[in-house]
Amino acid sequence: MSETDLILENVLFEKVAFIGLGLIGSSLARVLRAKGLARQIVASTRSQSTLDQALTLGVIDAGFSNPVDAVIDADLIVLAMPVGATEVVLRAIAKHIKPDAIITDVGSTKGNVLQAAINVFGETLPSGFVPAHPIAGAEKSGVMAGKVDLFRHHKVIVTPLDSTSSDALAKVTQMWKAAGADVMQMTVADHDEILAHTSHLPHLLAFNLVEQLASRADNLDIFRFAAGGFRDFTRIAASDPQMWHDIFLANKKAILAAIDGFTSQLDHLKTLIENDDSTPLIGTLTRAQAARTHFTHMIEKTPYLEAVMNNSTTPQQFIVQPGGSMTGTLTIPGDKSVSHRSIMLGALAEGTTHVTGFLEGEDALATLQAFRDMGVVITDPKNGEVTIHGVGLHGLKPPQGALYMGNSGTTTRLLSGILAAQAFDTVLTGDPSLTKRPMERIAKPLRLMGAKIQTTGEKGTPPISISGGQALEGIDYLLPMASAQVKSGILLAALWSKGKTTVTEPEPTRDHTERMLKAFGYAVDVQGNKVTVEGGGKLTATNIQVPADISSAAFFMVAAAITPNANVVLRQVGINPTRTGVIEILKQMGANISLENEAMAGGEPVADIRIQASKLKGIHIPEDQVPLAIDEFPALFIAAACAEGQTVLTGAAELRVKESDRIQVMADGLHILGVDCTPTPDGMIIEGKGNQGAVFGSGTIESHHDHRIAMSFSIAGLRASGEITIIGTETVATSFPNFTVLAQQAGLTIKVQ
Ligand code: S3P
Repeated sequence: MSETDLILENVLFEKVAFIGLGLIGSSLARVLRAKGLARQIVASTRSQSTLDQALTLGVIDAGFSNPVDAVIDADLIVLAMPVGATEVVLRAIAKHIKPDAIITDVGSTKGNVLQAAINVFGETLPSGFVPAHPIAGAEKSGVMAGKVDLFRHHKVIVTPLDSTSSDALAKVTQMWKAAGADVMQMTVADHDEILAHTSHLPHLLAFNLVEQLASRADNLDIFRFAAGGFRDFTRIAASDPQMWHDIFLANKKAILAAIDGFTSQLDHLKTLIENDDSTPLIGTLTRAQAARTHFTHMIEKTPYLEAVMNNSTTPQQFIVQPGGSMTGTLTIPGDKSVSHRSIMLGALAEGTTHVTGFLEGEDALATLQAFRDMGVVITDPKNGEVTIHGVGLHGLKPPQGALYMGNSGTTTRLLSGILAAQAFDTVLTGDPSLTKRPMERIAKPLRLMGAKIQTTGEKGTPPISISGGQALEGIDYLLPMASAQVKSGILLAALWSKGKTTVTEPEPTRDHTERMLKAFGYAVDVQGNKVTVEGGGKLTATNIQVPADISSAAFFMVAAAITPNANVVLRQVGINPTRTGVIEILKQMGANISLENEAMAGGEPVADIRIQASKLKGIHIPEDQVPLAIDEFPALFIAAACAEGQTVLTGAAELRVKESDRIQVMADGLHILGVDCTPTPDGMIIEGKGNQGAVFGSGTIESHHDHRIAMSFSIAGLRASGEITIIGTETVATSFPNFTVLAQQAGLTIKVQ
């Protein structure tokens, strides 16, 4: 195919007429030309030199000083002059345009463009009229500044009207997409209101601040000492004053409303400062600081820490070199389950709760953000320390929008219980992995308590919609599956319910909720597998010390057990008996593991765990250990592959509904690395390859947004014969943000890409 054929195939318009040919108009004309979208491009501007330059550049085929001459026979007319001139131009060209011509514009405000069109055409607007707004600009203006890639990866908002034909909308959309833009649609009114807040108000404030400082007597000093903050804030005050003058007047109503909002928020901050009102002041500042990354994260459905750490949304991968050692004394980050609960109960308590050892991982941060969204003041976690200014059981405020749970099933299920009892409505959303996880298991018992809760995803999955204002009643509930999350969600709802709530579990599951409720002074009655809580009490703030997470420690336990000459001490890890299945299973497999320095910390038992190179053997894992090691099976499968003989796991169907289907995903990965294993509906059979030499080959593993899959295949590298690449490892930050740092420290060669 020749170049001419290619260009002709792309033709969208026979003739395009630009009225005005500044930065935006001439950039669009360049796109039309470069992509061969128009057979002929003409323009009218008042400046002859602009036309001459455009002709010399080859951007247009003909130029006119009168718009009427330009629009004759044009099938697309682009109004690219200042928005204030729209009515005059439309009035001039109205009688000369083709009946089926498409008319679009590039103005920053849309209500006034629409009004101008109504003034000229009356209420029956031409079906080809499609207002639009490319959100792009550059420091320079004019035809010479135009660039063919000005709109690439920028947003273009198209605001179709009731009268707009689908053909006109499709063609304008296609044109902007060809320019590389991200095309969005909204109504004229929404456009003007949103832009008033996100663009017009910031420009107004920048102009205003510079003016305020410039009119002071000491203005020279002010500008001499102006540092980065002033420069960053006022950079946009260097924009074209005439253009902004026009925009402020054109979008008057929406801008005035935005100024009112700003003034009242500023007054609020002023009052807080005047009154030395420290808690709400830090609350406002921390919420604002978090909001920027939080909303980007929510919109792009990417992990928090990734956005924070490297400011990028590209998928991350681990590249693990074969072999390595496993030695040293390691401090594992805080327990995820305990961290979640410390924020929840701290927020609902009366008084101020200090937390130490808090896990600054994605999931716990999602919990923290959710409570900030409901008006709770929580300081930024630093070195594992967080302060929560509790609002009491009746102090949560309605959030402004959906609460974002990220990757966290624990946040979602526990919060469902809390939110079912609130006076306001809420919606819970999350990332692609969370969106696949079953939520009816918590919705059902909450409905029995009187909650109005809907799982609005396809298969009883998120988003979850909860209607507030329901009076809940205590229930006696037999859990159909061993789930600490469901048990905890029900127990939390019980705090607001009439009478007693009893949850009976088929097998014991982690009891952090029960322990922590007691630590906050709330009565909990535990009789064997039955837990009872009565509504109507209160939580009293306390200090919480979060132990190191045994689930994170498990990767290093297995790593040490499978590595020749390994010797690792994991400091002060939580050894709550409802979590120690991994220790018991590894011991039964013959692991060389011992506990030292046992102590109590914040109501939870802790110990140093020492683990050394071991001769592992395959076992049939006792089913009663399954709930006690539920998060550790991906790591235990790696241990099983390095054992002598067969390991059989049964009674673990729950693994199929974790962050990924951990039975299938682990089996797929083990197969890739050359391990013989058979997934079953409720477990796995793994043929161990023995205690010596390489067990795993090299290969590329897909982690399926599952942190524990990624970390398990990382430690497999210690007994691999070649490089292992693990794709999609950003979710490791949900539970173990410094995993690769500690792994390197202990002797594994692992690179993050
Ligand atoms: C958790 C309970 C478990 C566990 C999860 C954390 C908790 O989930 O897998 O990582 O903090 O209550 P289930 O309750 O779904 O078994």
